[in-house]
Amino acid sequence: MSTRNTIILAAGKGTRMKSKLYKVLHQVCGRAMVDHVLTQVEKTKMDQIVTVVGYGAEQVEATLKDRTQYVLQKEQLGTGHAVLQTEPLLKDQEGTTLVVSGDTPLFQASTFEKLFQYHEAKKAVATILTSKAPDPTGYGRIVRNDIGIVEKIVEQKDASAEEQEIDEINTGVYVFDNQALFKALHATNNDNAQGEYYLTDVIEILKQQGEIVAAYQMADFEESMGVNDRVALSKATKVMQRRINEVHMRNGVTLVNPDDTYIDVDIKIGSDTIIEPGVLLKGHTVIGENCRIGAHSEIHDSIIHDNVTVTSSFLEDSEMEDGSNIGPMSHLRPQSHIGKHVHLGNFVEVKKATIDEGTKVGHLTYVGNAHLGKRINVGCGVVFVNYDGANKHDTIVGDDAFIGSNSNLVAPLTIADHSFIAAGSTITDAVNQYDMAIARSRQTNKPGYFKKLPYDPEK
Ligand code: UD1
Ligand code: CA
Repeated sequence: MSTRNTIILAAGKGTRMKSKLYKVLHQVCGRAMVDHVLTQVEKTKMDQIVTVVGYGAEQVEATLKDRTQYVLQKEQLGTGHAVLQTEPLLKDQEGTTLVVSGDTPLFQASTFEKLFQYHEAKKAVATILTSKAPDPTGYGRIVRNDIGIVEKIVEQKDASAEEQEIDEINTGVYVFDNQALFKALHATNNDNAQGEYYLTDVIEILKQQGEIVAAYQMADFEESMGVNDRVALSKATKVMQRRINEVHMRNGVTLVNPDDTYIDVDIKIGSDTIIEPGVLLKGHTVIGENCRIGAHSEIHDSIIHDNVTVTSSFLEDSEMEDGSNIGPMSHLRPQSHIGKHVHLGNFVEVKKATIDEGTKVGHLTYVGNAHLGKRINVGCGVVFVNYDGANKHDTIVGDDAFIGSNSNLVAPLTIADHSFIAAGSTITDAVNQYDMAIARSRQTNKPGYFKKLPYDPEK
């Protein structure tokens, strides 16, 4: 039976990244580069996927989990040596094997599919995916003979001055007849500028054996971009971001300035939502229809329902229900659940709290470890005092309560529905239904005392 297999090369350290994080784990729009590669491979039907790991093997496996098999390359002796490590898992397979690198995050499944089709049509034993690079420096070059037939791939460091002029590059993606690949790999050596076993040498070896080697040149160089350093990482991120933003715009989302809008790959956004400039949407955030996400807001792993307005605010691991609004300059910390038509105004911080339908928290307030019922009015500058220095305590506020400005609610505390806290109170005891609680010292007026003060502008 003819099978389709994939080998993903992800064992390198990525020295040129100058990073403690292994190269293929660097993220592009919220997903590790090697995860992007695997995600596209998964869209192309495969019988077996094997990832070669080495540096950071545990982290790579923790990222990709059981979506692929793994083989360990103990020493990084080159891309050819890396592929050879998969031999015990793949060598007996009859069929075609796709080889891709974990540091080329922009490839799309449709390109792999075209490569397979071209390979089959040419009845080739190996087909290289190539592209024309505006600046080919650093890539392997495709050497063709006078009549355009591929002869070999030469690496930058081994290329003659003449070969360095070639602008057709090896994208690092190939399909091979599986058994021919492993046979040819045994014939490679490390007699080159880098002292490595190059996968690219397999091409010349197969040619010498009289096999058909084809090269499929893709139209778009950008898609084949390899990321070896931070400059390339930023370029790849830009391309990916443009792609993601275009998908949202085509789905009916307005991005006022897509060049300055940063949306991770797994984000969902409903139609007629408007995203203003400088917005960051991260992780697994979901945004409903007809929302407005105002300039410079940042939203991580949150669920925003329909008709919600977020004005210049920061939201993490939280949920905002239909018609609610927040900001400017407010912060939802993890586990905040904001009910329908709730209004959170300026400089409001909420943490691990639920706030039910129609409640208003207008200004300069901290709500932590609390449950607030419906239609409550929380005045300006209210502090839910949730921490005694050792433990966090909860506050419960019932429906239709009124919390006067500049009150402190010292937890643990229960404030019943339909009760009233006078402004400036520090509340430490439970407040019952229909009570008014006032906890502040009384005002004393001293008639004429102004004249006795050192301060008297009339003197
Ligand atoms: C490689 C190609 C080059 C091509 C370029 C495309 C070779 C010799 N060169 O060069 O022709 O133009 O990709 O982006 O193949 N890896 C291992 N084990 C190793 C060495 C590398 O798993 O021992 C992995 C790396 O983690 C990386 C991939 O193989 O994901 C490619 O290695 P890298 O060192 O980035 O090769 P390039 O110099 O970019
Ligand atoms: Ca590379």
